Amino acid sequence: MKLLVFAGSTRLKSFNRQLARATAAMASASGPEVTHLELGDFDIPMYNADLEARGTPADVLRLKEIMHAHPAWIICTPEYNASYPALVKNTLDWVSSPVQGHATWNDGFRSTRGKVVGMLSASPGALGGLRSQSHLAPLLLNLQCWLAPLNFALAHAADAFDADGALVNEPARRHVQAVIDQVVWAAGRLQT
Ligand SMILES: Cc1cc2nc3c(=O)[nH]c(=O)nc-3n(C[C@H](O)[C@H](O)[C@H](O)COP(=O)(O)O)c2cc1C
Repeated sequence: MKLLVFAGSTRLKSFNRQLARATAAMASASGPEVTHLELGDFDIPMYNADLEARGTPADVLRLKEIMHAHPAWIICTPEYNASYPALVKNTLDWVSSPVQGHATWNDGFRSTRGKVVGMLSASPGALGGLRSQSHLAPLLLNLQCWLAPLNFALAHAADAFDADGALVNEPARRHVQAVIDQVVWAAGRLQT
């Protein structure tokens, strides 16, 4: 099973990037083939249909390919104003936008349809960014993803990682592992 893990932040010391890194390490140790992707490695502008009409950026096509190749995803989203950040929306909007006249990518949902997605979030606050997930869920459903029933919100994230980037708290590790296991299990059963 190929599992894609990414965070909705490019901030250097991002808690969600740390959580994605820890999740990818835990997943790698438990079976699936893991791709840990950094959105900061993709040069993707703010979506604008006029810009798109001049040609879909190469990195959007690269991201579409990567997402399409992974039946299972885990997204670690920050919470901005009780929702997910613009980076997440902008990335998924570009990825789902059909490439006019393209033999493969004229199907806008090709890279998202049928993916099994687990949602994680991290925040320095007491709710761990949980409210971002309640906004992210309908977006993912619109992209024709299957959402894992389990999720996890990492509260007080500033104190959650050790110097090596591992989660210090055993219950937090158990929750993350449970999401990994469920996503991989479900993707294995839904894959045709
Ligand atoms: C515009 C803005 C709005 C925010 N709103 C929330 C919020 O609603 N709830 C929350 O827990 N944290 C909120 N935060 C704090 C973020 O959780 C914090 O900056 C976090 O570190 C961002 O994620 P990252 O560390 O992965 O980059 C907000 C931050 C910004 C910049």
